[in-house]
Formats: sequence, structure tokens, C-alpha cells
Amino acid sequence: MAARLNTPLHNALSLLNPFNTPLSTKPFSSRNSFRYSKKLASSQSSSGKRALYCTSSLGIHENGVDGAEKFVLTTPLYYVNAPPHMGSAYTTIAADSIARFQRLLGKKVIFITGTDEHGEKIATSAAANGRNPAEHCDLISQSYRTLWKELDIAYDKFIRTTDPKHEAIVKEFYARVYANGDIYRADYEGLYCVNCEEYKDEKELLENNCCPVHQMPCVARKEDNYFFALSKYQKPLEEILSQNPRFVQPSYRLNEVQSWIKSGLRDFSISRALVDWGIPVPDDEKQTIYVWFDALLGYISALTEDNEQQSLETAVSLGWPASLHLIGKDILRFHAVYWPAMLMSAGLNLPKAVFGHGFLTKDGMKMGKSLGNTLEPFELVQKFGPDAVRYFFLREVEFGNDGDYSEDRFIKIVNAHLANTIGNLLNRTLGLLKKNCESTLVVDSTIAAEGIPLKDTVEKLVEKARTNYENLSLSSACEAVLEIGNAGNSYMDQRAPWLLFKQGGVSAEAAAKDLVIILEVMRIIAVALSPVAPCLSLRIYSQLGYSVDQFKSITWNDTKWGGLNGGQVMAQASPVFARIELNPEKNEEEKKPKDSKKTGKSKVKVEQPQTLAEA
Ligand code: MSP
Repeated sequence: MAARLNTPLHNALSLLNPFNTPLSTKPFSSRNSFRYSKKLASSQSSSGKRALYCTSSLGIHENGVDGAEKFVLTTPLYYVNAPPHMGSAYTTIAADSIARFQRLLGKKVIFITGTDEHGEKIATSAAANGRNPAEHCDLISQSYRTLWKELDIAYDKFIRTTDPKHEAIVKEFYARVYANGDIYRADYEGLYCVNCEEYKDEKELLENNCCPVHQMPCVARKEDNYFFALSKYQKPLEEILSQNPRFVQPSYRLNEVQSWIKSGLRDFSISRALVDWGIPVPDDEKQTIYVWFDALLGYISALTEDNEQQSLETAVSLGWPASLHLIGKDILRFHAVYWPAMLMSAGLNLPKAVFGHGFLTKDGMKMGKSLGNTLEPFELVQKFGPDAVRYFFLREVEFGNDGDYSEDRFIKIVNAHLANTIGNLLNRTLGLLKKNCESTLVVDSTIAAEGIPLKDTVEKLVEKARTNYENLSLSSACEAVLEIGNAGNSYMDQRAPWLLFKQGGVSAEAAAKDLVIILEVMRIIAVALSPVAPCLSLRIYSQLGYSVDQFKSITWNDTKWGGLNGGQVMAQASPVFARIELNPEKNEEEKKPKDSKKTGKSKVKVEQPQTLAEA
């Protein structure tokens, strides 16, 4: 038997609690006074209201105090069992691009990320590294921050679940759920995957009770735990999903969630008797709170300031509910089933949407710390720079689906798109402008484009990019921006301004206008690509003669045709994105028969692009 509740105790406890337990926090009395009622499930589902609309006094309005619409976006809080790998970086890159896009729309964005630091998995990895858990967490949590800096991740809040402010919020939340009669004590016996930090159903396991995600055997456990009464939220959850199907995205993940719920929700254990490294259960220091019941609260505790009095009410007033939880598909159940039920129990609003993206894979297997088949993000960024890494993964992997990494493909894509289509077009145009117009625009871009179909094409593509960003179709958004670049290149090739300049007179005047048109296209590309490749966009902007401050104040409105004016002086042309050259050594290796090749990484040479300081 995979999991067994102590049913007599469960049933006995079920009789004790009336439905409307007030939400006020009560002191914890004795360990045996847990209250839970089956009546709750039916009365709640018959009205459905409380669960569905969550009209808690703690709910916030959509708009912030300054009137700007809020957009609160989260990444998962990453386990600190090992330093980040490319899989963890992927969610954060996507989140950063979405946050940057929403900022361009003028929204007041709160972009939350952080680290999940409690539980058995972390304690074990600290011990394996010969560190105490706190030291270990400091070290690994810092490596996440360092990577985010290297990848140009502009988060607003970084929460660590070992922060004292987080602990205060978790305890208050636990107390609310308890006061609502949703926590009871029982025995549990089952098969546990430490890497997932989850009890598993026998039917979902592979041979030898192996976890399908981590390919390692689960261990048999028997514990006396506190349980969360998830089962009583079955009906409300079903109703939420049928009334608001966009709660789970992409749409194809909704069916999966609905079928989990339909197959019957079982209460889950929210404490651990055998794990010291965690937040103590209020009134029972012998148990710690289950790492998921703790970590999910990070999305709320992150909202508070360090020097503030910590309370759920304050935290919630600062930005809850989240507009979007961005997660990998492996943790969908926690976010789309457990978390909403927990929030309902505590009388808090539900997040607006949960998006479960796919996996980065290596040889078809999920890339992960536990499997040890990871790709080193620090190495990638150092070799290729943040823009290439960000662009490649967002462009290459349709957001929501899985995607495999190969270095050859990486080089091919970034060279073709960023170095050739975008970088080269800018470089050629600025070169011609310098040679023929003293790097000065001869006319406003609006006047230059009169009667030119390219302007309409660009406007349509900008709209396409915007819609795709809004729908989180990040790859298609990149594609639309690249199409703008293609349109610019075609225009350049058709018009051949270098020949027109040679002809002189009216032809040369037309050629000078053509350069204005192409540079306007480049300017629009810089704005539209800035959520994905912010450094590259800044370099483009700088070469168009703008200051860093001017770049920082761009909005999506700046994708409108007409930003460049006659008389504006462009900067010195210099490659904004250096082509990645495969070393001759690598090419030689490529020619050798397969088994004579070294298994090590190929050598590549990247000419360093102009730095931001130079730009
Ligand atoms: N700590 C939990 C999340 C708690 S959120 C309150 C956790 N951490 S994790 O470090 O294991 O995973 C964090 C995220 O990284 C998850 O969304 C997971 O899907 C994502 N990825 C980990 N490996 C991945 C790939 N190989 N590819 C894409 N994303 C993957 O789960």
C-alpha cells in the first residue's frame, strides 16, 4: 500500500468542527484538539462562494496607490541543494522577460524570486558538503543571486525561506488554516521521494519504486504528522477551474490538473517528525512544517519590507494576489491544487494564473541537479554573454513545451539572428551613414517613410510581437521581432543605397532617406527586443545616439514609428553582437569519425562585443 491514513482517528476528528470557524488566529491548545468536519466540504461546495470569490478583507485592488496597474509575477523559489543549472535559470529568464515587457506597458511590476531552503533534501546536501545547513544555504542562495546578475535578471524581491520575516508569515498562515479547522493529526505511511519532497502514489512509480522524475527509489516512511484537509476543497477547486479555465496555462495543462482533482483529492501531510531543518510547527516543536507548506508562502512574505512589522495582512496589502506564477510542469500540482486550497482555507485571494512551462532536456531526460545531467549557466554566460543565452532559450523553446539544448544549434541561431539579421544590418547602415552623411540623419523618420510599405509591415509585426508577449508566447514574440529585422534587410538589399549614393543627386538623397528608414527599424527592434535581450537593445540604442537614461525610460509606445528625427547624430559603428566563431580545431574534430572525437566540450571563439560602458 502506497499511502495509508489512520482512518479511525481521521473520522473521529472529522466530527468536531462546525463549518464557519472564524478566521481569527487562535492560540494553539492541545495537540489533540484539531478540528475538521466533513460537513465543511459539502456546505462549502454547495455555496461555493467563499472559495470561489475569496472576498477576504485582505484582498487588494488591481491598481497600486499611484494608479498604475499592478503586475505581480513570481518564479519558483529554487532549492538550494546545489548551485543553479540552466533548467532553473530558464524559468527566471522567461520571468524576467515577461516582467520587462509588463514594465514597458507601464505597469507597476513586482517580480519575485528567491530560494527554498528548508527540508530534508537541503539538510542532506549540506551534510554531504560538510557544511551546516545555514552556511550551505547562504552559499548556494548567493550563487543564485550572482547568476541572476550575470543574466541581467532585474527582480524586485528576493525571498529566502530562512528569512525571519518569512517564518513569521508561515506561522501566521498555519494558524489561520488551523483556526479554520483544516489541520488535524494522523499517522502516515507511504513511499517518499526526497528529491521531490513528496509522498508518491505507488501507481505513479517505475520499477523498484523509482520516482519517474529522479529515477531513484523512493523510501518507505511511517510518520505521525499533521495533515491539511485538502479533500474538502475538491468541489471548490473543480468550480474554480471550470469557471476560470485560464487559471492554469497553457490550456493543455488544464486537463491534467482537472483529472488529478477528479480522481479524488487526498489530505496531505504538512509536517515532518524526522526533519529538524525547518520551521517548527506552532505548539509542537518536535515537528517542522513541510517544506512546500512553508515555501509557497514565500510568494506572500516576499512582498514585505525587512524593517516592517510582519503580518499577513501587511504582506497581502502590498501586492497579493499574484498576477502570474511561472513554474515548471513538475510542480504544477503544488501550485494549481495544493496552493489554491491552502489560500482558500486561510481566506486569501487566489493568484490569477499559473503557467507551467516545459523542461530543458538533455538526451530526452529532464536536466536536473538530482540527475546530474545539467548545463552550466555560468559557463554559458561567460562564453556567449547574457543576451545570447536569454535569446536562444526563449526563441528556441516554445514556451510551455520541452526543448533540447545543443551547442551547434545555439551557435547557429544566435549567429543567424542576433549577429547577422540584427547586428550586421545596424553596422552596415551606420557605416554607410558615416561615409555619406557624416553620421547624421537627413530627415525625420516619419517623413522618410511616407508612402513606404515597410512602415506598415513593421507596425503589423510590432503588434504581433506585443500580442505574443501578452500571451506568453515568447518564442513567437522573438520571431515577430526577427521578422522586423528580415523586413529591414530585404529593404536594404532591394534599395541598395550604396549604389544610389554612387549615382549622386536625387538618388543619393533617396539613399540618405533609406538609411533613416532602416535605422528607425533598428530603433523599433531595440525596444521590442528589450524584454528578451536588454543589453543588446541598449547597445543598439546607444549607437543610435541615445543615452543610457533615455534607454531606461523607453516604453512600449516607443515601438511606434517616428522616434528618429532629422539632425540626430548616430554614434560610431561598432558590432553590437559579435559572431561566435567555431574554432578551426573544432571544425577539424567535426570532420573526424564519431568515436575518435573527444567527449569534452567544443571550443568556440567569441569576439567580445562592445561593453555597456563603451556603449
Ligand atoms: N523549491 C521548489 C519550488 C518551490 S516554489 C514555492 C522546486 N525547486 S527546484 O529548484 O527543484 O525547481 C525550481 C524550478 O526549476 C521548477 O519550476 C522546475 O520545473 C524548474 N526546473 C528544474 N529543472 C528544469 C529543467 N530541466 N528545465 C526547465 N525547468 C526546470 O521545485
